[in-house]
Amino acid sequence: MPLKSRIESAIAAAIAEGQGALAPPRLASALDYAVNPGGARIRPTICLSVALACGDDQPTLSNAAATAIELIHCASLVHDDMPCFDDADTRRGKTSVHKAYGEPLALLTGDSLIIASFETLTRAAEADPMRAITLLRVLGESTGMPGGICAGQGWESEDKIDLSAYHRAKTGALFTAATRMGAASAGEYPEPWTELGARIGEAFQVADDLRDALYDEATLGKPAHQDEIHDRPNAVSTYGVRGAITHLEDILSGAISSIPSCPGEAMLAEMVRKTAERLTPVMPPVQAAE
Ligand code: IPE
Ligand code: IPE
Ligand code: MG
Ligand code: MG
Repeated sequence: MPLKSRIESAIAAAIAEGQGALAPPRLASALDYAVNPGGARIRPTICLSVALACGDDQPTLSNAAATAIELIHCASLVHDDMPCFDDADTRRGKTSVHKAYGEPLALLTGDSLIIASFETLTRAAEADPMRAITLLRVLGESTGMPGGICAGQGWESEDKIDLSAYHRAKTGALFTAATRMGAASAGEYPEPWTELGARIGEAFQVADDLRDALYDEATLGKPAHQDEIHDRPNAVSTYGVRGAITHLEDILSGAISSIPSCPGEAMLAEMVRKTAERLTPVMPPVQAAE
């Protein structure tokens, strides 16, 4: 099965668990709305690519790992768009969850998706309980305190931001979860895979800063120029547009050199190259002439 269909059917099965006659219909509808149609699904793609490169001998676990990561990601977007964070009206080209369903249901949608994410892993645990414990540990580390998404969002409430801790926790944690959980689901030690995830996450953050600066809301499907509006430190203000693109390319070539030796090493290098192509923004004519 192609990766994309594998990811979508695993996610659909997890969302179906939260539906049914007992479920409050509006919250059940909001769960589906927050997850489908998805965005780039970059984190589950990385997770399954690493699992495949390591032999993928337990697809039940790797599918659960990829789904769990994407559900946490979707939850983080729902909470991030709420008025107490970024107060965004759009996400993935449509009305954000709190605008479509109201704040109480947006809060509960994020909460339910985080719980569904851990439940997905526990349901798959029978396939290999020891590997599942590792997956649960890594997912918890990437989601909570002191270095997961909660910590990342928490930095925005500090007077002094540690920029690298902020980016590592807010964005990097789920990318290192993707590589580490891909490896762990195939029975490998997760730690040697941390660097690859960290480098892809760093490149993703630079690309996100570039897209935020260069594109408009219609192209992004979410509010644009947020870094400038909120005066957030970012790669474009630090390096300029061209400098940020060069920096992105450097980080991605470092990512390729950091791939641990494994049967699918060449295939993974190709996956990183394709990710690089997808991440690098096509510059509009004005900036291209800079
Ligand atoms: C957006 O992530 C949130 C950030 C961490 C910057 P993505 O760009 O991966 O979002 P989707 O899933 O494709 O919409
Ligand atoms: C959102 O971060 C991602 C996380 C919550 C972790 P941002 O606020 O920087 O990203 P966008 O621009 O809303 O996608
Ligand atoms: Mg935010
Ligand atoms: Mg935001």
